[in-house]
Parts: sequence; C-alpha cells; structure tokens
Amino acid sequence: MNLLPPLVFCALAVCCGAAPPRQPASGPSPLLPLSCNSSYVLDIADFILQDINRDRKDGYVLSLNRVSDAREHRQEAGLGSLFYFTLDVLETGCHVLSRRSWKDCGVRILHESVYGQCKAVFYVNKARRIFYLPAYNCTLRLVSRSEISMMCPDCPSSSPYDLSDPRFLETATESLAKYNQKSPSKQYSLVKITKTSSQWVFGPAYFVEYLIKESPCTKSQASSCTLQPSNSEPVGICHGSLSEQDSEKSVSVTCEFFKSQAPTPRGENSTVNQRPTNLSKVEEPQQKNTSPTNSSAKAVPKGSVQYLPDLDDKPDGSQGQDPVEAFPLQLDLTTNPQGEPLDVSFLFLEPMEEKPVVLPFPSKEQRSAECPGPAQKDNPLILPP
Ligand SMILES: *[C@@H]1O[C@H](CO)[C@@H](O)[C@H](O)[C@H]1NC(C)=O
Ligand SMILES: *[C@@H]1O[C@H](CO)[C@@H](O)[C@H](O)[C@H]1NC(C)=O
Ligand SMILES: *[C@@H]1O[C@H](CO)[C@@H](O)[C@H](O)[C@H]1NC(C)=O
Repeated sequence: MNLLPPLVFCALAVCCGAAPPRQPASGPSPLLPLSCNSSYVLDIADFILQDINRDRKDGYVLSLNRVSDAREHRQEAGLGSLFYFTLDVLETGCHVLSRRSWKDCGVRILHESVYGQCKAVFYVNKARRIFYLPAYNCTLRLVSRSEISMMCPDCPSSSPYDLSDPRFLETATESLAKYNQKSPSKQYSLVKITKTSSQWVFGPAYFVEYLIKESPCTKSQASSCTLQPSNSEPVGICHGSLSEQDSEKSVSVTCEFFKSQAPTPRGENSTVNQRPTNLSKVEEPQQKNTSPTNSSAKAVPKGSVQYLPDLDDKPDGSQGQDPVEAFPLQLDLTTNPQGEPLDVSFLFLEPMEEKPVVLPFPSKEQRSAECPGPAQKDNPLILPP
C-alpha cells in the first residue's frame, strides 16, 4: 500500500527534470529571512554602506542606524547568494569626498538630523571572493522642523539645501575670504554650498558648509590675477559662520582638506574581489588563488540618493498621508515574480554560463521576527516608517 507515494515522486522528478531549471514557481519564497542583529547581517550591511558611500559624489557619508530587513537568496551551487537589504541610515558630518569610512564619522545632532532608508541588492560569492553591489537606492529627509521646534525652540533651524536667503552665500564668501587672508600663499574658491542653517542668538547667525577648490591664483597675484580656474576637483570642505550683534559682524571659518583629493575612479581600485573578508568565519574560501578581475568597469553600482523635502513643507492635507507613501523608495531589478538572470559574468575570470537569479525586491511583510534590529539612535523622529 505504501508503493504509491514513491511512484508519484518519480513522476514528479521526471517531469521536473525536463522542465527549465531554476523555476521558483509559486511555492514558498526562496528568500530566506535573516535576523537583523546577527553579525553575519551586520557585516554585509557594512559592506553595502561602504560601497554606497564610495559610489557617491555628492552629499554626506551615510551611517547605519539599524538594519530594517535582510533576506538571502541562495543560488545554485557555486553561484553564491544574492542579498536584499533595507537599511535605516543617518547622515554624518563627513562629506563623501572625504572618503572617510562611515564608522569614523559622527552622525549629526538630533535637530540637524537627516535620516532615511536605503535598499540594496548585494551579491556575495565567498568561494570566489566576490562582493558586488549591483544596485541601490536611498531616500533621505530632514528631521521634521516643526517637531524639533516644539522640543527645542532655540535650536538652529536647519535648511540643508535652502539657498534662497542670500545671507548664506554671503556667509560662505566672507568666511572663505577670511580663510584666504590667513592662507600663506594658496587661494581657494567656492565650489558649492552643501549645508545651511540659521539661528537667532543676540542677532541673526548663519552657518554654512561648502566645498572649495584650489584657485589658480596665489595670494601675491591677488586681484590682478586673470587666470581662469581649471575644472579642478573640490579639495576640502569649510564650515563658516556669520553672526551679527548690534550691527557688528563676526565671521568664523574652519576648513578641512580631503586626503585623496582626486578620488580614485571606481574600477581602478574596485572593491570587487578585494574585500579583506571577515565573512570567512561563515565559510572558508575554497579557492584562495583567484586573482582579482580587472573588468571592473561594469562593476559600478547603479543607484541614487534622493532628498525629500521636509514633511512640514508639504501642502496642507498631506500631513495625514500614509507614512510609507510619504517615504517612497523603490529598487526593482525585475518585476517578474519568477526572477530574471543577473549578469555578473564580468566578475568571473572564467566564462560563466550560469547566472544568479534576481527577484523583485521583497516587501517587509515577511521579514524575520528579529527585524528591524536595534537602532543606534532610536528617536522615532529619525526612524523611517
Ligand atoms: C544584538 O546583538 C548584540 C551583540 O550580539 C547584543 O548585545 C544585543 O543584546 C542584541 N540586541 C537585540 C535587540 O537583540
Ligand atoms: C589601488 O590601491 C592600492 C593600495 O591601496 C595602491 O597601492 C594602488 O596604487 C591602487 N591602484 C590604483 C590603480 O589606483
Ligand atoms: C531608484 O529610484 C528611482 C527614483 O528615485 C527610480 O526611478 C529607479 O527606478 C529606482 N531604481 C530601481 C532599480 O528600481
């Protein structure tokens, strides 16, 4: 009587053997929910954030506040895993051009916080020592000014990208002039303002952060210099302030220079394949002699960081908007529920016929019960929905 089930099994095996390989079909999702506080997940989150920060040319280094969701899709043998991560992030005080690691950068104080979320698809093939970020997207928003002014009416009001007040430009030019005056020879010019805020103390006070580049003129040439500025890269960032009290102006400035002034174009020193892997505690690499590929031109991730306006600036009526809709963040490499092959063959030394399968980005409904992980800063004002 027990003969029937094995027969059914055989039939299934025959049928499925003939079918095209790797069909997740409509069965349980192949995405494994991972605990958001495990060191395995935190290590991968660190890699992802390093790659995102390295890819960016604008804005400030993002640091990890907490892992919101983490899934692993184990691929066919030898093909490693694709990870789908959602990270809650906070802006730090380091500009991305400083190329500092996010772990070495402090986050901004609460009333100047910029918080947000990143989604990332990350490919790991430990056996071949490949760590590759094919895609990411982040959405950032300034902490609600109305909430902050309720808690702290005297705090500076941050308006990170509001240049409408000409006093900000004045603060930048006057503070840079002061810096140039003190500089023995080299002179610098303004590239752009990257952050602004203002505060009323005994009078108005304006604060700006701005990128500078080397001016072709030296101090001795001063105003007679007619050399055209070259298209040089920003070499540093300055913090300037201008305050007024009893019609007396006071200007202050500090500047910090970036270590590597021309950031290496990604690719020449791509991280692909070169990670000093501490993931190896999970599984020892089997082939240690795989040398890095040099076809990294294609290894540039595709992604963007979107800045949303302060929620307070929304026209009336949108306050009650669904918080998730008010925080749009999308990352879909495919819409096909069966998935699509992801071309990573350029990461391999030898021709690879098999390709990992990428699926639509999972919604957070089926995330692990151990997600989100604990937050570094758990103020609800700076946690995305
Ligand atoms: C997260 O992990 C750390 C270190 O393993 C542990 O000390 C902490 O209690 C964990 N937090 C939660 C919320 O599980
Ligand atoms: C890549 O980095 C290494 C060590 O950091 C350095 O020695 C090498 O010159 C760099 N290569 C390129 C092409 O920048
Ligand atoms: C990333 O976000 C932008 C909107 O900011 C969107 O147009 C784009 O399709 C997203 N990328 C992916 C791969 O979904």
